[in-house]
Amino acid sequence: AQERTYSMIKPDAVRDRHIGEILARIERCGLAIERMELATITREQAAANYAEHKGKPFYDGLISFITGGPVVKMVIAGEGAIAKMRSLMGATDPQKAAPGTIRGDFGLDVDANVIHGSDSPDAAEREIDIFFGA
Ligand code: CMP
Repeated sequence: AQERTYSMIKPDAVRDRHIGEILARIERCGLAIERMELATITREQAAANYAEHKGKPFYDGLISFITGGPVVKMVIAGEGAIAKMRSLMGATDPQKAAPGTIRGDFGLDVDANVIHGSDSPDAAEREIDIFFGA
């Protein structure tokens, strides 16, 4: 199905100058970047996006990290966009992500794992609303 997903290049990858290579990989697999903005997200946006992780040991570090520098916020569209983005990204932990995936190639550790992508159509719509507003 034709889908939209929310994706975000995280502060570690912006700092390490990987934006261009990541965008190239997204476009090369046939997906379209529909909206895109470089911005530092607010703590409110971060808390809304990561509500499911509240109370976990890595939560406070995650919020500090994701709000600690600019990110690239994107709406990505295409056939099977959610699954395509998840296979492009690779496993959550860069140490376990396959070579050739974005996290496998550019990630150093699970706390700074380069890129985020929505994991379901419901999450995609919720996250697009959090980061791009109604
Ligand atoms: P992401 O899936 O985008 O959203 C939650 C983030 O929490 C995840 O990426 C990781 O960067 C981070 N994180 C840190 N430690 C863990 C962990 N043990 N399990 C899952 N996510 C973790």
